[in-house]
Amino acid sequence: MKVLNFGSLNIDYVYKVNHVVKRGETISSRELCTYPGGKGLNQSVALGKAGAEVYHAGCIGQEGLFLKEFLNEAGVGTDYIHVLPEVKSGHAIIQNDDNGDNCILLYGGANQTITQKQVDETLSAFDAGDYLILQNEINEVAYIVEKAHEKGMKIVLNPSPMDEKVLELPLDKIDYFILNEIEAGQILGMENQGGQELSEALAEKFPGARIVLTLGGDGSVYFDGVRRHAQEIYKVETVDTTAAGDTFTGYFIAGMIQELPVEKAMDMAAKAAAVTVSRAGAGVAIPTMEEVEKFAG
Ligand code: RIB
Repeated sequence: MKVLNFGSLNIDYVYKVNHVVKRGETISSRELCTYPGGKGLNQSVALGKAGAEVYHAGCIGQEGLFLKEFLNEAGVGTDYIHVLPEVKSGHAIIQNDDNGDNCILLYGGANQTITQKQVDETLSAFDAGDYLILQNEINEVAYIVEKAHEKGMKIVLNPSPMDEKVLELPLDKIDYFILNEIEAGQILGMENQGGQELSEALAEKFPGARIVLTLGGDGSVYFDGVRRHAQEIYKVETVDTTAAGDTFTGYFIAGMIQELPVEKAMDMAAKAAAVTVSRAGAGVAIPTMEEVEKFAG
């Protein structure tokens, strides 16, 4: 079973700061590092390192060629990535503060130049039962969902970063939602609800879908309308939280593809995310399966 991740590829410019810049303030950063990133790329790397047969599709500019090489090194197929000489690669400006927390400003660039022709050509290489993973950092997401659903692919949506475009997607065609409380609340039009209420409301609104709700420091919850499982986080010293959620998503879906019990897949995903949090950067922080297995917790 193959996985297609139609997703973003970003160059992450990570600025180390004492605190995140406030409105009207100018601050100096202590350090600038450049990393491969993008929610799409990070999730592909996690899937590849977890042992899935994963292919990434998307667009980059010439200066983003190293992103393609990075994916290859992580065991990800890159034949469906288009290199567009006239467009800039997507990038992210990330402030990483002394607590390891971050805030991110995105520039879509090539990520927003996906064409329906590219979608059709890419999907023609995949079959019913193959997985499709999507986030909300590229254009044409609705078209990709429609076409992949027609083919009978299993569709995973991580609706991040959340905006009004997500609410216009054909969400009834999604098989897995992996999302946080804020995203769930916005999809449901519910405010200030806890994890249990949100996961139940999502399962009711989208019958048959599997819901994984991430709750930050409170861990995550799986619910499919019948079975529920709560997973705690593994506490580590936080260096940089960037890509922790992407690592969780990639490792969890890899577990589903390997037909692991939900409990095992969630545990593996939580361990992998903990290792990512203990390291600097996005794609480069994502551990191999061997490192996850060695992680004592
Ligand atoms: O989820 C982390 C990612 O979000 C970063 O790598 C950045 O590129 C943004 O897309």
